[in-house]
Amino acid sequence: MAEVRGEVKTDPNAVVDRAVNLGAAPVTYGQGDRPPRGDYASARADYTCDQNWSAYTDADHDLYRRLYERQAAQLSGLACDEFIAAVEHLGPPAQIPRFDALSDTVYRATRWEVVAVPGLIPEEAFFALLSQRRFPVTGWIRKPEEFDYVVEPDVFHDLFGHVPLLFNPAFADYMQAYGAGGLKASLLGSCEHLARLYWYTVEFGLIDTKAGLRAYGAGILSSAGELRHSVISPAPQRLGFDVERIMRTRYRIDSYQSTYFVIDSFRQLFEATAPDFRPLYERVAQLGELGAEQRLPTDRVF
Ligand code: PHE
Ligand code: CO
Repeated sequence: MAEVRGEVKTDPNAVVDRAVNLGAAPVTYGQGDRPPRGDYASARADYTCDQNWSAYTDADHDLYRRLYERQAAQLSGLACDEFIAAVEHLGPPAQIPRFDALSDTVYRATRWEVVAVPGLIPEEAFFALLSQRRFPVTGWIRKPEEFDYVVEPDVFHDLFGHVPLLFNPAFADYMQAYGAGGLKASLLGSCEHLARLYWYTVEFGLIDTKAGLRAYGAGILSSAGELRHSVISPAPQRLGFDVERIMRTRYRIDSYQSTYFVIDSFRQLFEATAPDFRPLYERVAQLGELGAEQRLPTDRVF
């Protein structure tokens, strides 16, 4: 964890301990020694809670504004147009948005809602909310000393990174389908493979546009350093989107990614993931895993 990144390193799908998925019990994490950061006592059985907006301090709002302004300043030429066009729906950055008002705005556009959660939630609760077109956003904001790097998703990552693309109809439908697919994968024991799809698309996805490669993944878009790294650094490999390839590919949670997958369009993302994944899960289990930095002869390299 030596490397400093401007966003979260924890995969909400991969790290939540399935054993504690009983009502709104506190969530524990893969690493084991870190207590959950949010207030799980106030969460409902579906893990949603009140945002408690009035509890934010002036310092919290100020930190949100500084995070927002640092990212907004570098979006041009690096973030996809759909993201840039929608980020203004978050409202003025002077204060942490009120989820209720933002939720109404998203709902009018794509029938998605924004709901508050205490922090990371068990994967089944997460999948259930997505399948209902309800996007869970962490209520708390990082500490000032976590300006460049925070271990768990906070309100800045969740709002700034994820909410703008919920305004895009094709992406919005993909997110719902992902939630429903997650509930199915839970029953099939394939969550780890499906989580890689989330990681390499929703969190770290790139899109090919007429103007060049652009970022659409929330983990990139909320990161001060990875935005440039992912789009323009010569270091990482950028490969054509391929669901089977992605499901086989391990990922790093403690450094910038060494591989990014590039979609042609949000429509492609939705359509390529629409078929029944059951046979795919079986094939992927047979084929085995690939390292995060591996290259295959069949890869389409950008
Ligand atoms: N088609 C997938 C399935 O049958 C569901 C899914 C859609 C999963 C979109 C992820 C993303 O399981
Ligand atoms: Co995220």
